[in-house]
Amino acid sequence: AAIMKGKFDHFMQKEIYEQPESVVNTMRGRVNFDTSQITLGGLRAYLPIMRRGRRIVFIACGTSYHSCIATRAIFEELTEIPVSVELASDFLDRKTPIFRDDVCVFLSQSGETADTILALRYCLERGALCVGVVNTVGSTLSRETHCGVHINAGPEIGVASTKAYTSQYIALLMMALQMSEDRISLTERRNQIIAGLLAIPAQIKKVLEMDSAIQQLAQTVAQNKSLLLMGRGFQYATCLEGALKIKEISYMHSEGVSSLVNSNTVLSHSFDENMPVIIIMTQDSLYPKVQSAFAQITARKAQPIVLCNEGDDGIPANAKTIRVPKTVDCLQGMLNIIPMQLLSYHLAVNKGYDVDFPRNLAKSVTTE
Ligand code: G6P
Repeated sequence: AAIMKGKFDHFMQKEIYEQPESVVNTMRGRVNFDTSQITLGGLRAYLPIMRRGRRIVFIACGTSYHSCIATRAIFEELTEIPVSVELASDFLDRKTPIFRDDVCVFLSQSGETADTILALRYCLERGALCVGVVNTVGSTLSRETHCGVHINAGPEIGVASTKAYTSQYIALLMMALQMSEDRISLTERRNQIIAGLLAIPAQIKKVLEMDSAIQQLAQTVAQNKSLLLMGRGFQYATCLEGALKIKEISYMHSEGVSSLVNSNTVLSHSFDENMPVIIIMTQDSLYPKVQSAFAQITARKAQPIVLCNEGDDGIPANAKTIRVPKTVDCLQGMLNIIPMQLLSYHLAVNKGYDVDFPRNLAKSVTTE
């Protein structure tokens, strides 16, 4: 059956709005919320090898690469195996050493991205276990990997990837949870995350209700030349992915920067008080550090827009805020990315661009 936009103006908008359901589809039949058990059938036979792996290498491009960055920390925390994240093209350029006891995980919405497929073949030749995390059933990547997980987000038509990101995020989390199911010391942490996953769909729905506020925000920043997104820890990936969305469809210059070391460089070299900054300050263990970055920015007379949690009264009363529900630290990025997806969408619509088919951009890059 033809895929229709229904009541939506664009596929991208429809896909942003599908996320309360698409994340449920990713978890369906895999997360047992009563017993806190995760079952990814496609991985079961390979779990012993995955757990014995010396390291895990995530390999992807674009948005898929960002979902790897977003989940790397929780993956390492739960599995206690070092994880590296590779941009497929750079991985190939470097002729990166890969060994038989490596576990290589390939992320791709389409399953057809040329660089990611070439990186897969490179790792297969070197005898590593190759795991796919793919949306498109029957794609090259899902056929050529040893095993894997389909994210089941449903077809994604909009060139800017949205629902695939949140579903990849959940797929990687489920993988880490399943790999760590025998670690008694992590029981409480695992239960906390699984309870968080249960609440996520309704929370995403709640964030989507902010659409008209975000539309207004888009109007206020649309005339600026660039937009800076700042955050660290779990939120660094949100900044990179938010900036990518903005660049991809609104052609506005945007950078995601870590509010860690970069803040000084950025503030002194590429920043003036008229440049809009969105700073992500949701409440996790790095909150105090982000607060000090916030203070540095306001000291330069800029007025950052603060993406923070509902009910956080630590944010100065005169600051412009985007408030999202609070969840577990490692899940917060799934809620925080939604306002950024909406912002990029409204920026592009505001500028009159073709949201679903931006110029010079293909849905999947099948050439090197
Ligand atoms: C290209 C697209 C990006 C996309 C990336 C990965 O670079 O422009 O929007 O995220 O490919 O696509 P994949 O299908 O492998 O997830």
